[in-house]
Amino acid sequence: MDGISPPLDLSTAFDASSVRGAGVFITGGASGLGAALVRAFGKAGAYVTFGDVQVDAGQLLEREMTSQGLRARFVHCDVTSFPSQSAAFRAALDFHPAHQLNIVVPNAGVATGHEQLLSVFRPERFPPASLDTDALPPPCPDLASLQVNLIGVIYSVSLAMHYFRLPEMQTQTQTQMQMPIPTQAPSRTSTNKAITFVSSMAGYTALPGGTLYMTAKFGVRGLFHSMRKYVGAEGVRVNLLAPGYMETAMTANVLTALQGSGVQLAKLSDAVDAVLRLSIDPSVNGRAICVGASGNRDLCDDPEGIGASLEADSVNYDHRLFRLE
Ligand SMILES: NC(=O)c1ccc[n+]([C@@H]2O[C@H](COP(=O)([O-])OP(=O)(O)OC[C@H]3O[C@@H](n4cnc5c(N)ncnc54)[C@H](O)[C@@H]3O)[C@@H](O)[C@H]2O)c1
Repeated sequence: MDGISPPLDLSTAFDASSVRGAGVFITGGASGLGAALVRAFGKAGAYVTFGDVQVDAGQLLEREMTSQGLRARFVHCDVTSFPSQSAAFRAALDFHPAHQLNIVVPNAGVATGHEQLLSVFRPERFPPASLDTDALPPPCPDLASLQVNLIGVIYSVSLAMHYFRLPEMQTQTQTQMQMPIPTQAPSRTSTNKAITFVSSMAGYTALPGGTLYMTAKFGVRGLFHSMRKYVGAEGVRVNLLAPGYMETAMTANVLTALQGSGVQLAKLSDAVDAVLRLSIDPSVNGRAICVGASGNRDLCDDPEGIGASLEADSVNYDHRLFRLE
């Protein structure tokens, strides 16, 4: 797969059967979209490893899946720690009988840590530190949101590319914890390999209530842009999901206010459909799908495209959260 494929016709069905037996790794899989993806990939017959900092919820979901005869493994994983993610990727390879990794969805995210920067926009609501010249300097901004939403994704991509490049392993027993370190050059394989980024419409348009969140989601989109034309030569497809507001734990404390201000929510099931299509369909590379209240659409986020800005204008995401009291 070289280059960017043409805009998607999302009214056509795609064949998800090829994911049966594939190795899938999802971060932030204990809740919300990640948990829905774990269930969907598991039901489609994949070997799904998912990492999260929420151990109880992760173990519960693993039990739910295995009790249905589905193949899922939870691992504690803090995406902000490279060693933690590295161990989770190794666990994902170990979980697959042939130590195979095909699909990575760096989904973990948080929506906190941006309040201090809000004083830039709304000093009446988020008072800045004292402007007395003798006062101490203001506190350093809290960058936790960037650590999870952007740095964690960079770690995921780096590890995904490393493990995608490993030569195919012969089938080994799943109990073999230490994989041999291959010595030959990276193999180029026709096996389906994909990274599906989870950005947001906040990666396309202004969301003044979430300055760092938005910065991170633009950054994820930057990773997508920087990779999508170039890693196809190694058989890796790179695509992106950009949901509008969805009902998950992330939006729980603003849901009433969002709905009260007329925001229509996107459906989690539409986001799952989009991720499955982008991750599984071997003909799709370099596409970004928006999940909006009226369904999914290809954003035409291409060098020559203007579809993303049209979508942003039509829904007018940017003013909504800003107006919430
Ligand atoms: N809900 C929305 O409206 C919306 C809209 C656009 C994009 N998104 C994106 O969708 C993705 C999933 O979010 P969600 O809506 O399902 O929210 P969620 O809160 O239900 O799920 C996020 C998951 O990430 C996990 N997580 C947080 N920090 C982590 C860390 N350091 N290491 C590992 N896991 C960590 C959480 O424990 C949680 O399970 C996020 O990337 C989010 O930014 C959500």
